[in-house]
Order: sequence, then structure tokens, then C-alpha cells
Amino acid sequence: MGVRIVRTVKELHGEIGAGSVFVPTMGALHEGHASLMRIARQEARRRGGAKCIVSVFVNPTQFTENDDLAAYPRTLEADLIVCEREGVDAVFVPGVEEVYPRGVQVRVPSLPNVATEPGLEDRCRPGHFAGVCQVVLRLFEMVRPAAAVFGEKDWQQLQVVRAMVKQEGLGIEIVPGPTVRDADGLALSSRNVRLGLDERRAALVLNRALVRAGRTADPAIAEGSMRDELASSAVEVEYAVIRDAETLGPVEGSRTCRALVAVRVGKVRLIDNARWPMNRMG
Ligand code: PAF
Repeated sequence: MGVRIVRTVKELHGEIGAGSVFVPTMGALHEGHASLMRIARQEARRRGGAKCIVSVFVNPTQFTENDDLAAYPRTLEADLIVCEREGVDAVFVPGVEEVYPRGVQVRVPSLPNVATEPGLEDRCRPGHFAGVCQVVLRLFEMVRPAAAVFGEKDWQQLQVVRAMVKQEGLGIEIVPGPTVRDADGLALSSRNVRLGLDERRAALVLNRALVRAGRTADPAIAEGSMRDELASSAVEVEYAVIRDAETLGPVEGSRTCRALVAVRVGKVRLIDNARWPMNRMG
């Protein structure tokens, strides 16, 4: 039979209607995405049998000049198998013209402050969150979900989407999905397939740095120990910081904090994060 594939909003609304639980993705699905789908199905059941929709759309507007849009893995056939296995009701696979119709200015919402906190993603990938907010808002308009699931692996993105939903008064519940890791600690990412064997080994330093940071409750010492750990491996560090978990601003009497790292391993950019310190909930 295969999972139901829909390519247009018209088809989607004919099939599903509003009020679904939605998992937006760019495809190249792995076990991390599968776990988001399981969370979505659970949320759908909690909502009395809402439908569960996954989108697969590689959004060109969120790639910056340092990113390689052409190199982004595209694996639709395998993605559909994952969606079918996880029992989603439909996979929305719109073309670029469906999302960004010719001659129509698709709105970029004003960026919440959390998107432009100094020293994080905006410094390394200027324009990235404008593209993310644009496509997420557009996908929300198209899918009209009641709830949407976003992975904690992209921690800043999760906070940006939450802030945007609030700012725009969308009334969509944003449900977080915990990061899934390989047995050796590497966070699952669609980019991992681009790592060579030595690069993959080098990438394990991200998790080691987060674990080391989590052992101290002093933010300056924690940042120093992350930098020391990262310096022990063949990676180029973009940031390694402790921030307020929600605003991503500096830690000043924050209730919950997060350790966040971004590195380049060869040509591949990897990010990871963990609650901080590790013995505190957050
Ligand atoms: O996290 C992602 O895969 C993307 O940024 C998202 C949310 C699907 C928007 O393109």
C-alpha cells in the first residue's frame, strides 16, 4: 500500500483538514526523526485521534552562502519507508512552487530576539533563522496543525519557533523531542552521513565537551572546559557557550541553562547541546 503522499495544500485539506499534529522535516530521515514521529502520534492520541502529518521539504531560503544546499542529502524513497513504519497518516511533499508560488511574496515574520542572540547561529549563519521562520510560518499556514513537534537537537531553532508562535499568536502547541544519540554519544543528524570515518571519530568530541561542561556549576569554567575538550580534536570551533535555556541570552539568574556547541568537521557543520549543569533538570 505505502504511506499516503500529498503534494498540494488542496490535496492535504481534502485528506486531513486542520487540527493535526505536524512534524516538519527536510527529509534524510533517521532515528531522531522517527522518535519525533512517535511523539507526534502520542500527542495525536492525546488529542482524541488527531491525524499525524510529516512534511519533507528542503527549504532553500534557510541555506546561507556557507551552507551547501546542493550537498544536502535527498532520500525521499527511504524517507517514505520511515514514515510508513512509524504509522503517520500522510507525508506532505510540496514542490518549491507550492511553498513559494511565483509572484507571491511569502512573508518573513520579524525575527524574535532569541534568533539574533550574539555569538550563536546568527553570527555563523546570518539569514538562516529568517528562512526557518519564513518556511515554518508558511508550512503552518498550509498544514494548519494544532501541535507541531521539533527536536531539541536544534535547541536555538526550537526556542525561535516557540517565540515566533507566541509573537504571531498562532495558538499552535510546540512539543519538544529529546535528542537521539548513537551508542557512542554522537547526536543523530542528517549531516552525519557526510562524515568520513576519521571525521566521525573526531565529531565525538561534541558530546565529550558537553559532558565535561555539565560537571561544573560555574559557567566560565564550563565554557573553558568545553573549549579545552574541543581543542583536543580535529574540529574548527564556532561556539561553545552556556546560555539561558529559553532566551539564549547570558546566564544571569537563569532558571534553566543550556550548554551549546557548534563545530565544523572538515566540510560538515555539526551542532549539539545539553541541559546544564547536568544534575539540574532543564
Ligand atoms: O529542522 C529542520 O529540519 C528545518 O529547519 C525545518 C524546521 C524543517 C524547516 O525547514
